[in-house]
Amino acid sequence: MAKEIVLSGIRPTGFLHLGNYFGAVQNYVRMQYEYDCYFFVADLHSLTTHPDTKSLRQNVHRLLGELLASGLDPDQAVIYVQSDVPEIAELYLYLNMLAYKGELEKTVTFKDKVRQQPQNINAGLLTYPVLQAADILIHRAVKVPVGKDQEQHLEMARNFAERFNHRYGEVLPLPYPFNYGASLTKILSLDGNGKMSKSENQMVTIYLADEDDLIRKKIMKAKTDSGPAVPGMPKPDYIENLFTLMQLVSPAETASAYLQDYENGAIRYGDMKKQLAEDMVAYIKPIREKAKSIENDKEYLTYIIEKGGEKARANAVETIKLVRKAMHLDYV
Ligand code: ADP
Ligand code: TRP
Repeated sequence: MAKEIVLSGIRPTGFLHLGNYFGAVQNYVRMQYEYDCYFFVADLHSLTTHPDTKSLRQNVHRLLGELLASGLDPDQAVIYVQSDVPEIAELYLYLNMLAYKGELEKTVTFKDKVRQQPQNINAGLLTYPVLQAADILIHRAVKVPVGKDQEQHLEMARNFAERFNHRYGEVLPLPYPFNYGASLTKILSLDGNGKMSKSENQMVTIYLADEDDLIRKKIMKAKTDSGPAVPGMPKPDYIENLFTLMQLVSPAETASAYLQDYENGAIRYGDMKKQLAEDMVAYIKPIREKAKSIENDKEYLTYIIEKGGEKARANAVETIKLVRKAMHLDYV
């Protein structure tokens, strides 16, 4: 039986941080061995909020470098850039006729963006979920690894697909959000205020591109307190977050030793952060260096972008043929 199709995209709008890495990219890496995977750089989506394209090339190259350095393998998954597949834009056009102004205006992410950029409420922003639906449906993907904030977009993609199928015939399978259940990792920012994110204060977010000393500095500044008032009491979330990070990057014995200290009420957060900082540096350094070297290897990047684009396009062309046929947009 053919493997199920998985698809996800990331906008080239900033540096990848630990939240993206452990919350998203590590899942992609695992999925590429189990499913038929498509992962792409959503450059068209970035135009809805970042119309200045002077740094786009550099941002796309860096994101590709970071994804490949994190373990995405172009022999296991199709890795491509959205704008290299014009069939996505074509499907977006058709789906726009099936998307209603009212539902687009009610989308939570749209309302957020209207608040954030009142001077640039463009039609692309309004139809962002339609383009995202086209990204997914063009490959007839059924599993889409995304965070909670994207679930509404997925629901809209299913609605557009259902409307299409109802009107023109069954062509598009319905896509659902996907995660590995309990292993979905959420990383909080280092001051304990919400999740680590691109738009947060940079000093409480650790990026894959951070230099060793900057990583140390950020971790040493991470929020802690004077320790559990009662040994073994539940951990505040900013402390839990440090343990989560330690479990992700430190040797298992190290993490369990500090956990023991916590349970016994003998935890010294200064020591724990020093240890975590060193283990984090050891973890990130090879990824950062590999990402940099890929980003600078323009010949390799060209090869990746062209090869991925070709594969993605070949598949997209097949879907567009079915779509046009179903819509009776074929005249010869
Ligand atoms: P950001 O919130 O930094 O702008 P994106 O929205 O571009 O990041 O997210 C890209 C992917 O990374 C999504 O799948 C999202 O769920 C995941 N992600 C982002 N931040 C975190 C976090 N702090 N913890 C876990 N996953 C995250
Ligand atoms: N909207 C997604 C985000 O902000 C990025 C994205 C664009 C995407 N197209 C997609 C994610 C298709 C999954 C599938 O994170």
